[in-house]
This record gives sequence, C-alpha cells and structure tokens, in this order.
Amino acid sequence: MTHDVIAEAARRRTFAIISHPDAGKTTLTEKFLLYGGALTGAGSVKARSGGRAAASDWMELEQKRGISISSTALQFPYRDAAVNLLDTPGHRDFSEDTYRVLAACDAAIMVLDAAKGIEPQTLKLFEVCRERRMPLLTFFNKWDRPGREILELLDEIEQLLGIPATPVTWPVGIAGDFRGVVDRRDGTYTRYTRVARGAQIAPEEEVEPARAAAEEGDAWTTAQEELELLHEIGADLDVASFRRNESTPAFFGSALTNFGVAKLLDAVIDLVPPPTDRPTADGGTRPIDAPFSGFVFKVQANMDPAHRDRIAFLRVCSGRFERGMVVTHDRTGKPFATKYAATLFGQDRSTVEEAYPGDVIGLVNATDVRVGDALYDPTGPPVSFPPIPSFAPEHFMTARVRDTGRFKQFRRGVAQLDEEGVVQVLRDRDLGDQAPVLAAVGRLQFEVAVHRLEHEFGAPTELSATSYRVARRTDETSETELRRMRGVAVLQRADGTRFALFESPYWLERVEQDHPDLLLERLVAEGTAG
Ligand code: G4P
Repeated sequence: MTHDVIAEAARRRTFAIISHPDAGKTTLTEKFLLYGGALTGAGSVKARSGGRAAASDWMELEQKRGISISSTALQFPYRDAAVNLLDTPGHRDFSEDTYRVLAACDAAIMVLDAAKGIEPQTLKLFEVCRERRMPLLTFFNKWDRPGREILELLDEIEQLLGIPATPVTWPVGIAGDFRGVVDRRDGTYTRYTRVARGAQIAPEEEVEPARAAAEEGDAWTTAQEELELLHEIGADLDVASFRRNESTPAFFGSALTNFGVAKLLDAVIDLVPPPTDRPTADGGTRPIDAPFSGFVFKVQANMDPAHRDRIAFLRVCSGRFERGMVVTHDRTGKPFATKYAATLFGQDRSTVEEAYPGDVIGLVNATDVRVGDALYDPTGPPVSFPPIPSFAPEHFMTARVRDTGRFKQFRRGVAQLDEEGVVQVLRDRDLGDQAPVLAAVGRLQFEVAVHRLEHEFGAPTELSATSYRVARRTDETSETELRRMRGVAVLQRADGTRFALFESPYWLERVEQDHPDLLLERLVAEGTAG
C-alpha cells in the first residue's frame, strides 16, 4: 500500500501554464492533450467551452464574456506518467483563483509569444512563482511567425525576471522560418513537417549534422554559431537551480504547428519534480505515504443552480484517496463524506474512484469547506497545511444593496462570497455590513460578485468607486495613528486582518517616510505590473 502510494506519486507531474492572454496557453493545452492521446484532433478544449449551451446563469456570464471563469484540472497519461495540468483562468483580467491554482502546482510553464517576450501578466504571474520558489519552464511560442531576435528574448528574461534562461532546445531557422530544433543536451537535430492546422502530431525526423548542414544551409550555420556562443557563456541546463526557481530551462516551438511540443512535454516528465512531502502548518512535513490528506485550493459554487452545488477542488498531498471514504475536515473537526468526488476533463465531470499525491479531485456538496482547509483520513494523524496567501488587492469598490428590504440577503451573500474568496470583503468599523468595500486582484471578480449577489442571493447590488489604489497590511497599534491621517482608511477583513488603504502609491510612500514606526507591510505579488 505504502509502496503503491510512493510509486504512484513518483509518476505524477502537476503543473499549470501561465501566460499573458493570447500567448498560446489554450493552444498549447490542446496540443498537450493531443500528444497525451486524450484528444483525437486538436481544437476540442475551445469548442467544448465555447459551444456549450448555457446550463446556468453562472455559465451565461462565462459565455457572455467569452471566457472560462472556472478552473479545471485535466489529467492525461504521457509516457509512464500521469500528468495533471491545472488550468489557470485564461482571461485578460486577473483573479485570486490564478494564484490559488498555482499553490496546488509543483511547477509552471511560462508561455511567451516570441514576438512579444515578457508581457505584464507574465511578469505578475512570475512573481507568484518566485514567491513560492516554484520551478518554471519557459516556452517561446509562435516561432513559426516573424518574431524578435532570439538572444534579445533570452536577455529580456534575465533582465526582467532576474534569473537566467537556459535553452534546452534551440531553433534552426529564425522566427518565421522555423525548421526544427537542436536538443542541446545531446546535439540531436529534430526536423518537423507541418500538417494542416496542426490537427495531428507533427511528423518529425532526426537529421544527421552533415545532412542538416547541406539541407538547411545558412539557417544551420547560424544555429551552430549561436550554439557555440551559448556553450561559451555556459547557459546550460541546471536541474538543481531550475528546481529552486533560480534558472528557467527554455524551449522553442510553435503550439499551432506542434513544433517542439513533444520536447516540452518530455521536459515536464523529465524535469518537473514529482510531489514530495508537504510542509504542514505546524512547521513539520506530511510524508507522501502518510494516510490520505489534501488541501482545498478552490471552491466553486453553483455551477448548476438547480442543484445549488458547491465543488471544492482539493489537491491530494499524501496517501491514497478512495471515493466514499469518510475524511475529517481540519477546521471543524467534522467528518466529511466523499461519495461525490469528481475529476474534471474540460467542463465534463466524471467520477473519480481513487487519487494519489499530486492529483486534483473535485468534492461536490462541500458545504462548509473553504479555501485552505485540509481534509484527512482520520485513521492517521491530523494535519493542517499553511494558509494559501491571499494577495494584495488592487481594486476597491463599495457595495450597497439596491433595495434595503433585501439587506439580509445581501449580508448573507457578501459573507458567502467572502468565505469562498470570490472577493475580499473589508469593513469599516463604522459602516460595517451596510457598505462593505469589496477588494479584488482583478476587476472581473466584481462582476462575478454582483452577478451572484443578484441571481443567487436575490440581492441586487450597486458598486461605487472608491479613491483607494493600494493596500498595506497593518495592525491595531498603527491603526489609531493611520485613522487620523487624510487619504488613508483602515478596514478590517473577517479574519481580523487590518488593511490600510491609500489613495496613491505616492501618498503611501510619503506616509512610510514620515512615519517609519507604522506597520505597513507589503503583500505578496503586488503591483509588479499593470
Ligand atoms: P491564450 O489561451 O494564451 O489566450 O492563447 P490562444 O491559445 O487562444 O492563442 C491565441 C492566438 O494565437 C490564437 O489565434 C492562436 O491560434 C494563436 N497561436 C497560438 N499558438 C500559436 C503558434 O504557435 N503560432 C501562431 N502563428 N499562432 C499561434 P486566434 O486567431 O486568436 O484564434 P484562432 O482563431 O486561431 O483560434
């Protein structure tokens, strides 16, 4: 049994793809599924969510915006591994979900558009990875199109992210004239052939250097010169530093034409660390072969309002999960039945019978369960995991119920959304529940909140802008003095955390300079980019 768990965990690779919108995350996801044999023709992931009839208001909102709000976890086999690809919401706006999904991953792939390089959201997501010391692979996508200079792109990573990129593959042919890649680990050259729309696996051929030189001409010579240069500067793959987020192995390819996709997926299997013992809240670790445990990283309510269901997504941290087992919920100490456990493939649910460390399961009817909670097998020692950090909100709106007769519903709805982490709810000591400030990492969170308050809780809500732009964590001691200042508000979250809100970063800076004694703590992953 223990042996099973260790062997199964060792096969798991759990990661997410992070990117700026349009860099190719969806396309790459599809191609991974294609290479994993989970799709017969690429294009299904998009078609699936786009073409589906509205099953609920919730989905209606998703469709209206043409985005997928719900994160999904895809599992597919590749080589001997079980690959768990966690989908971070792929829209222009940001939300805390993205961060939480990353907390459940062991690594991430950063997809960059080779014509654009590092874009604002990539930078922001990178900050989260760095904070967590999460291993990061880099994929330069769209090499089939004209793009930027290769050395400039590599340099940009080092400049903006502060860690070197170590190219594992190297393209033959400039961006827009992409022939294939040289694998720097053994020097082999893989040449690809395009197939229509990249709907099938790209035919590839290993070509000997002499033949490559004859057939690829200048493109080959240039690639060889560049490889020589790389060798001299020593930008070689270093697995240990990759695992500490101190360097990022880089790959070149085109998700659209499938060039380089297999090399990248192979790297996920070969380089991404499998799940290991997990740090616990008490400072210890939970061995992967301990009895079952996992933590909830996302709660999604009312995907289907007819059933009023609530799915808690849990990452398995130790042991074997078996559907139907009764587990203990760490926060309440209550038993929790797992009769309705599901895995998700795209938007489709299917029942999961067992799961191992690294896997994600969706627990239906998880009424009391919140983000960060642990569930564990009561036959083993109890466990709690460190809280998932909530991130510095960057947008603040005041919420008021439109019809005061619906105040009770409003209060209940706001409390629920707060608990689920749809938005952070901050209250003024004097205004309390009448006019809470909703704080979010991305504006879309507000739209979701208002939609749900109206349709799910029957409390039509009005949001009005506030003048606050930046938040810092503060404490009771600093509160009194901060409250006396103009342009500063101190609000409190339900968990007791106090936030000082400032009207501008400039104003914050002034206060910091003039009052070094005040606690104004910066929060994780904040304001690195727009
Ligand atoms: P995202 O999830 O990161 O937002 O990006 P997505 O995969 O949707 O890709 C954004 C656009 O870039 C899509 O074009 C997609 O086809 C294109 N694309 C992705 N990878 C590559 C690549 O390797 N090479 C080239 N040339 N294009 C790529 P679109 O026109 O917006 O959508 P579609 O009509 O093609 O689906």
